[in-house]
Amino acid sequence: MPKTALKVCQIASELAPFAKTGGLGDVSAGLSRALGKRGNDVRVFLPFYSRIAKMKHDFVAVEFLRDQEIALGPRRLTYGVLTTKLPHSDVDVYLIHCPALYHHDTVYSGDWDEYLRYALLTRAALECCQRMGWAPDIVHVHDWHTALGPIYLRTLYAWDRLFARTKTVLTLHNLAYQGVYSSQILDELGLSPFASMLYNEDLTQGRVSFLKSGILYADLLTTVSRTYAKEIQTPEFGFGLDSLLRARADHLAGIVNGVDYGEWNPASDPYLPHYFSAENLDGKAAMKKALLEKVGLPHAGAAPVIGLVSRLTAQKGLDLLFDTLPEFFYHRDLRFVALGTGEERYEQFLAWMQISFPGKVWYFRGYSEELAHWIEAGSDLFLMPSRFEPCGLNQMYSLKYGTPPIVRRTGGLADTVELWNPIERKGTGFPFDHFTPEGLRWALDYALNAFKDPVAWKQLQKNGMAKDFSWERQVRLYEELYARLQRT
Ligand code: ADP
Ligand code: GLC
Repeated sequence: MPKTALKVCQIASELAPFAKTGGLGDVSAGLSRALGKRGNDVRVFLPFYSRIAKMKHDFVAVEFLRDQEIALGPRRLTYGVLTTKLPHSDVDVYLIHCPALYHHDTVYSGDWDEYLRYALLTRAALECCQRMGWAPDIVHVHDWHTALGPIYLRTLYAWDRLFARTKTVLTLHNLAYQGVYSSQILDELGLSPFASMLYNEDLTQGRVSFLKSGILYADLLTTVSRTYAKEIQTPEFGFGLDSLLRARADHLAGIVNGVDYGEWNPASDPYLPHYFSAENLDGKAAMKKALLEKVGLPHAGAAPVIGLVSRLTAQKGLDLLFDTLPEFFYHRDLRFVALGTGEERYEQFLAWMQISFPGKVWYFRGYSEELAHWIEAGSDLFLMPSRFEPCGLNQMYSLKYGTPPIVRRTGGLADTVELWNPIERKGTGFPFDHFTPEGLRWALDYALNAFKDPVAWKQLQKNGMAKDFSWERQVRLYEELYARLQRT
């Protein structure tokens, strides 16, 4: 248990299982659950997206938070608040119910008014704390969506003694998304009177950036791996924010994400028909057969199965596949099972692979939690050749599922996957350095050769399965940072 329990207010655009498009949803849930288990008072704020409203789940209206009014510039909005527990925990989730803004079918709308949706979430979360008379020690915000939290506490809500001791943390999950809008929206954000506090160069160019304001005003910045914390201070990975991040380097920490082994454990995964563990890998072979049967690929022979579960964006390094996968599948007996949606060129490539290599390649264009678990469990190798990767969760899930990952050595992938050394029988996977087709070709070759030695392969699987990336470990690092902030 932590020495002093803290009051932690998490504000996030995603929270699994209610709203998830990628790792952010897993992380906000895993971190909150782990903090709660250690006795902290954690409250998580999230929009009541229309897709959550359609879930079979009990949400209870908070009576004293009905019909709350808020003005975003000339716009007057009304919201209510629903509450529930984060599954498998005692953590309270508060969902901001504002149908005028959260009526889209998807989590992110991509519409022009996205900024309103997250400005409202952030302000509503702080105003709920006020109405509840609950003084958070920490307000922890995530990515651009809620990055206005720190500046709001220093401006609109600075008068309230309730927040006198509140410290703010901004976690950078992905610098590729910054929430940059025309500075004409300042009025709606309620920040016109405080324009001088915003990043001046942006304003002179008629812009405002949610993420930059968070980087400037959060008491502490964290990012989701040690390597990414260093990388983002360079022009190559900084997405234009590297100089600002270097200026705040003393207040920037890298903490590798945790894994929720309650959700991702091959010995008890409710999505799977067969279980397995490092002690008994029989279920893994059964899962491979079941996966291939499920997707209609032939199972005969010892052909290795390569799995891919990904948002299909340039970040994920999928461009490297164009020049490598066809030749591998043309010449060798392999299986490829891919799941993901995103940019059309990648979807089209995967669909083309399926048509070009019948009986070898299967692709599902969509999102499926169940299939993601099946692919982790039933594949022999997991492919994640990211161009950049703040942390990445799938490679850690793969390690636990005895599915050694082939990864590009960047960000969290560099921190979590060690190169297999067949002589010493150490290592957990196949990282490659250069973001080139040759780099990936080298790693694929290396991995497929290693696969030919079943005894050594078993050791490689066991090495990965023995790694502990649990939230139980990682949460302590967040607690230490929170505690350090309390002392300042
Ligand atoms: P990112 O957050 O950049 O997408 P991560 O590796 O941190 O990358 O997390 C991705 C998460 O999203 C994992 O839990 C992964 O299983 C899940 N995921 C991604 N695409 C899909 C999909 N098409 N179907 C199901 N789960 C997916
Ligand atoms: C982002 C990153 C991913 C990270 C996730 C959770 O989506 O792309 O690398 O694991 O956030 O922190």
